Amino acid sequence: MRHLIVPSVDTQHWLEVLKTNNWLVSGLGVITVEGGEKGLPLAEHAPQEDNLIWSGFAHQTISREVNKIKHWSDLLDRDLYQEFDQYWPRSYEMIGDVLIVRLEDEVKQYQNEIARAMLDRISSARIICADNGVTGEFRVRDISPILARDGNFSTLTTIRENGHNIIIDPAKAYFSSRLSTEREGNVIAAKELANLLNRPITISDPYAGVGPALPSLIAAEGLVEAIFAGDLNPDAVKLLTDNIASSINKSNYAFDNQVMCMDAREWRRDKKFTESTDLLLVNLPHDTIEHLEDLFPLMRKETKSLIRGWAIVERQNLARVRESIEKQLIQHGARAISLTCKEIKGFSASKIFIRIESWQIFS
Ligand SMILES: C[S@@+](CC[C@H](N)C(=O)[O-])C[C@H]1O[C@@H](n2cnc3c(N)ncnc32)[C@H](O)[C@@H]1O
Repeated sequence: MRHLIVPSVDTQHWLEVLKTNNWLVSGLGVITVEGGEKGLPLAEHAPQEDNLIWSGFAHQTISREVNKIKHWSDLLDRDLYQEFDQYWPRSYEMIGDVLIVRLEDEVKQYQNEIARAMLDRISSARIICADNGVTGEFRVRDISPILARDGNFSTLTTIRENGHNIIIDPAKAYFSSRLSTEREGNVIAAKELANLLNRPITISDPYAGVGPALPSLIAAEGLVEAIFAGDLNPDAVKLLTDNIASSINKSNYAFDNQVMCMDAREWRRDKKFTESTDLLLVNLPHDTIEHLEDLFPLMRKETKSLIRGWAIVERQNLARVRESIEKQLIQHGARAISLTCKEIKGFSASKIFIRIESWQIFS
């Protein structure tokens, strides 16, 4: 295969020239040739060696094993790859067509090379972003776009979960696909509650984020009497509003719904929301337990109701957490309580992620 041979320092410039003109063989990396110069694989239709465009740089025929390239890292310069062998990212996360990758400090300076290789190799990725962790009370990821196809640097994207499309923007609002099984569990539990009550139910999701829990609930025909959803993050609320509207458009039954940008603990001050909820979702894992008491006034009285919440607790405190929630429930007039606190997954060496599920009747 014909290669353009350039000094190492000029590699980036020539890569850009080749890519812009579509003269680079995608799927093959840059190689180092004798004397430390770099060889860039040329597409057959690239101009011949005597063309002025090459500024006098030589062409050389080097055989390449095209089929050996399977992984994006195969596209990195081999010497560079060896030098930072243990630091290249081993995994990444896809949220719709947004690829998010955590970069070790040692290879951050090569983020463009990494992103270029990923875009070349991973056809489902439209934009490559560096992941700098989760920040603030809204639990939003701090992500910085590195490279995008067609210059589209927007992180707005759509994912499909449990058969429904959800619009999300990982740079603006929290979203994790890891709780999708829990969301399926919400639907099963909601149907059980509606069956018990023999009527459609009112569902409140005051920490809804972009609202991933709601499409499956809305899609269950006749399940919902009303949906109240909200979040404190205004960017999340915009997406939540669009996602709910799109679920409602697809459903063929009518129900009340309201979307709020409000602190969940303030909902109890609005008469519309007090004593109205049959199923309450509480997904604020670091603070769920502290917030619970302020949410109890939302629950409908003298009828079976259900609270499903998720929390992060010390493993050794699990029994104590359960006891304290039960105590709070009793103090707020709950009876016929059936409460479970179940570990779903580990969170850290000492902490676990749990699901709190409480069936009760508030008086
Ligand atoms: C862990 S996320 C869960 C989001 C969503 N339920 C999901 O599963 O994707 C918690 C959400 O609560 C919101 N939040 C934080 N504090 C809040 C508060 N006091 N009242 C309402 N929402 C709050 C955050 O903005 C975030 O979107």
